[in-house]
Parts: sequence; C-alpha cells; structure tokens
Amino acid sequence: MTPTDYLPAAGRYDGTMPYRRSGQSGILLPALALGLWKNFGHAAPYATSRALVHYAFDHGVTHLDLANNYGPPPGSAEETLGRILDDSLRPYRDELFISTKAGYEMWPGPYGNWGSRKSLIASLNQSLRRMRLDYVDLFYTHRYDPATPLDETLQALVDIVRAGKALYVGISRWPLEATRHALDYLRRHDTPCLIYQGRLNLLDRAPQREGITQLLQTEGVGFISFSPLAQGLLTARYLDGIPADSRMRHEASLRPDALTPDLLSRLSRLQALAADSGRTVAQTALQWVLAQGATSVLVGASRTEQLAEDIATLQLPPLTPEELQAIEEIMG
Ligand SMILES: NC(=O)c1ccc[n+]([C@@H]2O[C@H](COP(=O)([O-])OP(=O)(O)OC[C@H]3O[C@@H](n4cnc5c(N)ncnc54)[C@H](OP(=O)(O)O)[C@@H]3O)[C@@H](O)[C@H]2O)c1
Repeated sequence: MTPTDYLPAAGRYDGTMPYRRSGQSGILLPALALGLWKNFGHAAPYATSRALVHYAFDHGVTHLDLANNYGPPPGSAEETLGRILDDSLRPYRDELFISTKAGYEMWPGPYGNWGSRKSLIASLNQSLRRMRLDYVDLFYTHRYDPATPLDETLQALVDIVRAGKALYVGISRWPLEATRHALDYLRRHDTPCLIYQGRLNLLDRAPQREGITQLLQTEGVGFISFSPLAQGLLTARYLDGIPADSRMRHEASLRPDALTPDLLSRLSRLQALAADSGRTVAQTALQWVLAQGATSVLVGASRTEQLAEDIATLQLPPLTPEELQAIEEIMG
C-alpha cells in the first residue's frame, strides 16, 4: 500500500465518539482508546495493525496507547506506529493523542528497567526515535519502583514535560500512598498528573478496592482502565472453547486456567442478560467500566470486527440501575 491510499473518514468527529475531560484538565479524551500492547509488534501482520489504527482513527479514537516494551520484540509496536504515521497518519499528528511509558525491562544492564531518572529519560528518547515523533502527548511511569526515591522518578516526569518531550504525565499501577504522594508532588511542580492507568474490569476491581479511584475522583485526576475486557475473557471469545487464533492460545499473559467452569457459567448468564437488551458480553463489560466513572476504556483488538463491536458500545444507552444490579449479582 502506498502512502496515498488512506484518507481518513470525513465523519470521524460526527458525534458517535464521546470525548470526556481527563479529570480537571483541559484535555478531552475519547471514551474508548486503542492499546498497542499486542497485535502491533513485528510479529503481527503489518496490514492488520495498520487497518486497526485506521479503523480507530476513522471512528474518532484519537488516543493510541503504547509503551517502550510493546511488541514482540520489545519496541516494535512503537516502530509499527512510526511506520503507520509515515505512510498515512503523520499529516494528522495534531489530531492524535499518543501515550507511551517506561518502567518494565527494556534493555540490558542497570538502566533499562524501573524508575530512575536515567531509565525514564533514556527510554523516552528511544521511544521518540522509534515513532519518529518530537514529543508524545502523555508519558507514564509504567510501574511503581520501590527501590528508587519516588521524587527522583517524579522529578524526571516534570523535567520531561519542561523539555517539551511530553505534554502531560501519568502514573500506571502505583499503590495508593505512593499515588497520593505523586499527585501532590506533580501538582506542586506545576505538572499535574493527567491520568492514572489501572486495571478495572468485571473480574478485577482492585483500583476501587484499594481506594485509587476514590482518590483520583477527589483529586480531579482522570482514570483509564486497561484490559477492560480482561484480555478477551469478558467477551464471547471463549464461550465455546479456546479458538486457535486467540490470545489465550498464543500469549503467556492469558492462561487457560483462567477459564474455570464457574467463570464460564457466569459469562453465559451475562450473555443472556446482555442479549435481552441487544448488547454483547464485550459491550456490557465496557459499559460497566464506564459506569464506574472511568474517563476511558483502553481496549486491545486483533481484528477490526472486534474494534467495531467495542466502539459501537458508545452508541448504546447507558446501563440502567437495574441492569447494573443484575450484572453485579451475576459477576459477584
Ligand atoms: N499499564 C499497564 O501495565 C498495562 C497492562 C496491560 C495493558 N495495558 C494497555 O491496555 C491495552 C489493552 O489491553 P488488553 O489488550 O489486555 O485489553 P482488552 O480489551 O481487555 O483485551 C483485548 C483482547 O480481547 C479480545 N477482544 C477485544 N474485543 C473483542 C470483541 N468485541 N469480541 C471478542 N474478543 C474481543 C481480543 O482478543 P484476541 O487477541 O484473542 O482476539 C483482544 O486482543 C494494551 O494494549 C495496553 O495499551 C496497560
């Protein structure tokens, strides 16, 4: 395909994608963002990755989420996005909100991992080179580092923004007290935390249980839920066995032992409930997360049909209190 083959859909901002302010910031984020963790590395067919990004952009999904280590191999999802930008989307850079992260192992030696100033700044410089970008819209500390002084990590985030390499900063997977400290530190240094990225879905409510979502609400910071479909468990994907082309079949991150008879029975009941109101299991799971007050759900997809189903969620009427209660009763 040549660079001229793609023209974005003229109706991409026709009102089908809701945009919500992230916390008390000025930035509007789409209610659904696309993550490039899986299916965008060099191991994935480039045409499929490109079609997914184009489908997203054509439907108002302006937010693409990456990390230094996404692939496989690590770094290659950012390279794929750089290639897609080059061959079609770079003219639309100002319509895109691109996030990346550092914090998991990326290169050998003492500096390719965790949260030191050296690791974060070197990693972001690498990410910018891979995507051929001057800046990212959002840079995250990908995980809490118990061995590095928190203020070293946080000051690196502040300095990254001051250097113009990121417009906003965020925190992913930090525990409650460290998050509280981070929000305070970043605000005092004129770089308020834009958003917290954590896993909230019908099978994992840790951010609510641990008080993270409540803290963010009080502090006016956005929340984006990664893996809102529990990597595909909260869809119809596994109701009749493990498909040959599924994540569970190919990736260590989703193990077959997650598929217990109890879960399958709950999912069947959820599917029946969803069908009564013309929804799918995936759409119900996404609506549940949005009903918890999340700024956005951050989904993955291996094909455009999935993304179409997930984006169509935003056109559905919100879950009623009765439906929310019935979902709670089924999922526990
Ligand atoms: N901050 C962190 O530490 C962290 C951790 C994990 C993820 N993330 C971010 O969150 C993003 C999303 O994570 P995720 O991929 O685990 O999200 P997810 O949306 O929970 O799972 C995506 C997978 O679910 C399946 N799926 C999606 N829509 C479907 C549909 N309508 N019907 C049937 N199956 C469907 C597909 O599985 P198949 O591939 O089997 O088709 C797809 O690959 C990542 O790309 C990354 O940006 C961040």
